[in-house]
Amino acid sequence: MSKEKDFDTAFFGQPRGISTLFYTETWERFSYYGMRAILLFYMYYAVKDGGLGINETTAASIMSIYGSLVYLSGVLGGWLSDRIWGPRKAVLSGGILIMFGHIALSLPFGMPALFASIALIIIGTGLMKPNISEMVGELYSPEDRRRNAGFSMFVFGANLGAVVAPWAVPAASAGFGLNLWHGNNFHAGFSLAAIGMFFALVQYVYGGHKYLTNTSSEPQDPISSEELHKLIVRTVIAVVVVAVILGGLAAMGQLNIANVINLITVIAIGLPVYYFVRMLKSDKVTKTEKSRVAAYIPLFIAAAIFWGIEESGSVILALFAEQRTVLHIGGWHFAAANFQTLNPLFIMILTPVFVTLWSRWKNQPSSPAKFAAGLVFAGLSYVFMALPALIHGTTSGRVSPFWLVGSWFIVEIGEMLISPIGISVTTRLAPNAFKSQMMSMWFMTDAAGQAVNAQIVKYYSSATEVPYFLSVGVVSIIFGIVLMFMVKKIHSLMSGID
Ligand code: GLN
Ligand code: ALA
Repeated sequence: MSKEKDFDTAFFGQPRGISTLFYTETWERFSYYGMRAILLFYMYYAVKDGGLGINETTAASIMSIYGSLVYLSGVLGGWLSDRIWGPRKAVLSGGILIMFGHIALSLPFGMPALFASIALIIIGTGLMKPNISEMVGELYSPEDRRRNAGFSMFVFGANLGAVVAPWAVPAASAGFGLNLWHGNNFHAGFSLAAIGMFFALVQYVYGGHKYLTNTSSEPQDPISSEELHKLIVRTVIAVVVVAVILGGLAAMGQLNIANVINLITVIAIGLPVYYFVRMLKSDKVTKTEKSRVAAYIPLFIAAAIFWGIEESGSVILALFAEQRTVLHIGGWHFAAANFQTLNPLFIMILTPVFVTLWSRWKNQPSSPAKFAAGLVFAGLSYVFMALPALIHGTTSGRVSPFWLVGSWFIVEIGEMLISPIGISVTTRLAPNAFKSQMMSMWFMTDAAGQAVNAQIVKYYSSATEVPYFLSVGVVSIIFGIVLMFMVKKIHSLMSGID
């Protein structure tokens, strides 16, 4: 079996299965980031302009809490695949739900369609994202040295989808400049996202039969009936608790979007805390492993702050693009949503630079030191955004698009120092008994960051942009500096992992 894997070099020297997973991920990320590029505007544009007319601060909070839940639900998706379905089926069902999520928004059903879409895409992505990543790993035998390259290729696939979508989806909303309709027809944009997800499914089903291993159709650690029983009891308790909280809020006349967002923020921060406590207390975790888990705590917080800033690109920087940026360079006109292409574009440009850097640099810094530098870059990308208003002395009027280009470039240097290194260090610091939970922990760093965003984006507006960018940016820089001083300590806690 492993021999067979080693000899399969059909896709750029990698196993043929990578191409199936690569294009599935490309199209799925196309649908996700295409949808995100226009969703904020769809929510807060007035009804006469094709939007839902939600107020701007609520729309910004919804964007963040939605982004948080998309990564939080990976906990359930990973679990379901490990214990019941196996990754193959989990990814397929997730993909179908995501497609229906985009279809919901392509129909003119207003708010109910928005919430249905959000729910479908949260559950669907939770089923898909962690499990498709796991299937990439399964294509290689443990000793196969092409494994890391395979993962890099897969991430490249994600960014390929993410780079194209912010052009294609807004263009579809605008009728491709063909005067198909007047102004924005967001539903047309969301239809294109649905079509993208359909391509992902075709690719997956067609290629999956031929090129993916059969082991991926089985759960790794099938659940026993006794455990299933326990689980059902716990699920019922959890559902009752949530129902009681929501019922209580309703009884007090407090069941509104803001309070639901607050509740989710608490869960997104509480869940990783719970996992940390469980791992640190578990009998199944050795002393060395516990020390590694302890080392992961400051890294977790750093990653959460980083993702908070990075993910605010589709919320805060999107607002800045729409309200404060000149939307043309000479005769070349573009839409605010198009700016979302910059994040994946810079990832694609910078990845080879950093791959070369890490392969050549002999005494390179340890992972915690790279994290610290990454946080400083993230903070600087925000401080940079305070400059246009400080230089012009006003927050009204529009400024050059190059401010946003520069900010995204700086934050993506940070992403190079945190994202690939974070995934790798997470898997290496994982205690044996908590391997898949630790993978979910990595996605929880993003979920926690966006949960905090859901609370703070409310304070952003053009009038508050200088204090907003400065304070969040400075917090990130300070945390980066503190982390730098802790590098030695963290590194020793990592016991042999770099
Ligand atoms: N932006 C990347 C993706 O969407 C990774 C996000 C993350 O790791 N939190 O695939
Ligand atoms: N930064 C996002 C990701 O890496 C686009 O895919």
